[in-house]
Order: sequence, then C-alpha cells, then structure tokens
Amino acid sequence: MEIIIVDTEAQASHLGAKIVAQQLMKKPDSVLGLATGSTPLALYNQLIGLYTQKQIDFSRTTSFNLDEYVGLAPSHPSSYNSYMWKNFFNHINIRPHRIHLPDGLAPDIAEHCRQYEGAIKAAGGIDLQVLGIGADGHIGFNEPTSSLASRTRIKTLTLQTRHDNAPNFDLNEQVPHHVITMGVGTILESRICLMLAFGTSKAQAIRDMVEGPISSSVPASALQMHPHTIVIVDETAASALSRRDYYRWVYDNKPKWQQYE
Ligand code: PGA
Repeated sequence: MEIIIVDTEAQASHLGAKIVAQQLMKKPDSVLGLATGSTPLALYNQLIGLYTQKQIDFSRTTSFNLDEYVGLAPSHPSSYNSYMWKNFFNHINIRPHRIHLPDGLAPDIAEHCRQYEGAIKAAGGIDLQVLGIGADGHIGFNEPTSSLASRTRIKTLTLQTRHDNAPNFDLNEQVPHHVITMGVGTILESRICLMLAFGTSKAQAIRDMVEGPISSSVPASALQMHPHTIVIVDETAASALSRRDYYRWVYDNKPKWQQYE
C-alpha cells in the first residue's frame, strides 16, 4: 500500500484527480470503478474541471459503481444512481450505455449480481477503483465480517452505517436496511485501488486498514493483499497511524519516475 498524507481534503482530491486523469490519458477506454458518499465529491469536481478544460475525455470510459440501496428506484433522490448523475455524469461526456450501477429494484437480486459481475468481466475488469472507507472499516458496503472473497451480492447495513448515511435521506424516510455491493473479492481484482479518507472519524479505520491485521472485521484491511493500492489521507485521517513519519518520508523521496506530479 502506498500511503500519501497531505494537509487538506482539497489537496488529497486534487492529487486523486491527477491519478485518475493519468489513467485516462494512458488508456482512454479505461474501466473506472466509482464510489459515492461525501468522500469523492471534491475528486469528481476536480475531474469535471479537467474535462471542462479539455484535459481529459470520458467518451470511451466505462464505469461501474460499487453499490446501491435495495428498494430505491434509480430516480429516487437518495439513490446512488441519482448521486452519480447529479455530481458527476451530468457534467462529463461519458456515454450513458457505458455507465453501470447495481439496480436497487432488480426483481431477482442474486441473478442481477451475477450479471453485474459478468459485465465487469466482459468490460475487461476494472482498471482503477475509487474507494472511500466507512468508520467501521467497510469498503463498498462490505460491512465488518464480510467474506474477504465475497462477490457482488446483497448485504445488510450496520446500524452505524445507516446512522452515518441518514443525512442523505428525508427526515421522514428510513435508510434502507439492504444494499447491493461489489464484494471484497470483486474490489481486489481491480488493477489499481485509489482510496481517499478525510477527518478524525476515519482515523481509526485507516489505522486498522493499514497497520492492523488482515481481518474480515475490517474489510478494508484486505487491501493489504492488493498489489497496487494508493491511499490518500489528510492529516486528521492519518492521525492514528503509528508509522506516519515513514509514509511521509517515502512519499517525499519517491524517485522522479514514480511521482504523480
Ligand atoms: P463517506 O462514506 O464518503 O460518506 O464518508 C464512505 C463509505 O461509507 O465508504
């Protein structure tokens, strides 16, 4: 894992966008894995900016989102489908037929999940997967005790995650109990994983992921087995890491050919 500690969320998102942009320049028909939540919002804004300045082009890009709420129509304002269009897809030139999100209304969820896995495979696999992390160490919606070999499937959210995500729902509306999420095993097959995390609420999860034992109690710790994971954190999210001076030293002394900027 490469751990990059920067001062602010804005710097982290700027660097994250640079890494995604480099991927798209190197391979214009890249398959991107995309995340939702508050974490990637500034990253998407940066990418929209680069697209507006004609520095990157999404016309050949394919996307697969990590997860979606079961029971919400794509048009529901709190669905991740709506989030993606509002915050990213409406502002870039990605072709709608190359956009994939799990369907929260799929009548046969197990079959839908199999098809989702098949579509990822048919697209050639995910080149770069954007990730956030839950305060409980989840990636996608793979809550603690998720199998580290899991594939796309239905999961039940923890109380904490439902509580964390409640601000995205109307006051009189319940956060769904169930979701469809790519599995940990699905995520681990991405060629590059790019995780962003900000704020003290993520500090313990980041420490457990990077420096703790690999355990299904912290699904993100499975990324220790991944050959190319980049983790960009601000100072507060890095605050519980015991080796943060070493990670800073490594990043500050990267050989020129390995540098992102
Ligand atoms: P957040 O969620 O970006 O809203 O903090 C991250 C996650 O739950 O994976």
